[in-house]
Amino acid sequence: MTRYKTLAHTMAKEIRSGNIPVGARMPSLRHVIAQHGVSQSTASHAYYLLEEWGLVRAQERSGYYVTQGAGIAVDVKRKVRPDFESGKFDISNLVFSVFDAAKHPGIVPLGSAFPSPHLFPLRRLAKSLAQSAKLISPWSTVVDLPPGNEQLRRQIALRYMGIGISQPMEEIVVTNGALEALNLCLMAVTRPGDVVAVEAPGFYAALQAIERLDLRAVEIPVDPVTGLDLDALARALDTHPIKACWFMTNFQNPTGVTLSTEKKKALVELLARNEVPLIEDDVYGELHYQADYPLPARAFDRHGLVMHCSSFSKTLAPGYRIGWAAAGRYTQEVQRLKLMTTLSASIPAQVGIADYLQHGGYDRHLRKVRSALSTQRDLIRIAIRRWLPQAVVRSYPDGGYFIWLEFPDEIDAMALHRLAIAKGISITPGAIFSASRAFRNCIRLNYGHPWSTRIETAIRELGELVPAASRSAASTWSDNASPDIDSN
Ligand SMILES: Cc1ncc(COP(=O)(O)O)c(C=O)c1O
Repeated sequence: MTRYKTLAHTMAKEIRSGNIPVGARMPSLRHVIAQHGVSQSTASHAYYLLEEWGLVRAQERSGYYVTQGAGIAVDVKRKVRPDFESGKFDISNLVFSVFDAAKHPGIVPLGSAFPSPHLFPLRRLAKSLAQSAKLISPWSTVVDLPPGNEQLRRQIALRYMGIGISQPMEEIVVTNGALEALNLCLMAVTRPGDVVAVEAPGFYAALQAIERLDLRAVEIPVDPVTGLDLDALARALDTHPIKACWFMTNFQNPTGVTLSTEKKKALVELLARNEVPLIEDDVYGELHYQADYPLPARAFDRHGLVMHCSSFSKTLAPGYRIGWAAAGRYTQEVQRLKLMTTLSASIPAQVGIADYLQHGGYDRHLRKVRSALSTQRDLIRIAIRRWLPQAVVRSYPDGGYFIWLEFPDEIDAMALHRLAIAKGISITPGAIFSASRAFRNCIRLNYGHPWSTRIETAIRELGELVPAASRSAASTWSDNASPDIDSN
């Protein structure tokens, strides 16, 4: 490695470990030259590289400063205010801090929320985009306003039909990804102060939406093997004025668990008896490894109470930001909210995806992705058994690309996350999946990237870091590396 790269890596380590905090001014060039015995050119090049990695930014006539994005040493724990009794909380800071720390180029993406871009037929999709864009009518700006492009909604409705669900295309509203669909559905059925049932552990974006809309959350436990605890949900419905539920019934994020068909039916019946709508997040449904798509709860809904949300982000085109809500009896409200908030999803992206669905070989592509992901699941399970013997893996996902690990209680996954980031490895600590900051000894790993020695090595290194993340080690460790480990 050249001298400037070695120097840049040394300084990056200091930043990532928290020794040089976010916002701090970096040592001057003169100081670096004297301290490391390097030339001016080496010192300058090292700073250029740090800038390229997003760790520092130059401020004219003042020097270099550590960026927000480098923020692994921010005081996330103290910023989180868990207040489960009232159901109000502040999860966003914790989530942003974890993902900011993990988004630097070059980091091993075990903590990423995305699968590898290499899994997607981007070239074929670009061809569909180019061909269909040429044919876009000048009137499409008006015609394709919500509920969205007709051809695309027809293709989506056909996919429902393919798995035995009769889904009128009139009830499909095209959105900017599933996240917008989920948020619009939540807005359609709640008012500030309302109570919403969410999963624990569950997708952090549900918690962020609840926080943003000034709602309150009741957490319903999810077991990595059996899924959502329906008895707990029934008790919660009896004791809280729940206005909506936001659940994943297939390949749940983060545990990977899928509810059995019986449980899905029982869930739909329970909610129908209580007249409570279900916002069903099914973004990973198409990534099933077994022959058939496990029917979502939507398939058993007879009352229009299930709002089924999904997208092409995890299966085909992450950057196109096309998703939808099949919103049942709430369709009109969701459509109006879509118009009022972001007006419309990108029309070229809608027609491009519609063309691909019709002519591009989507099912063939999906078969390839499913097969790759199921192989990668087996490989990561072997690697975990070999290199992370401290972890208990109860989850055995049959779809998607997440696996959930539980460590002994004394392991602090936030500390492990920070130690891992300093080594260039991202993981997702369990605390971000719950308003009450439970699951502090758990992590989620992403196996959506082609298997490589780099990933295997990262898992081995993670295993080596585990002892240093135990709460007893944390106090010693925090003296040297990170002043904000909370060892309670
Ligand atoms: C469970 C879950 N739901 C929804 C989304 C958002 O999907 P989209 O990218 O289509 O907005 C994600 C993305 O990470 C997710 O993991």
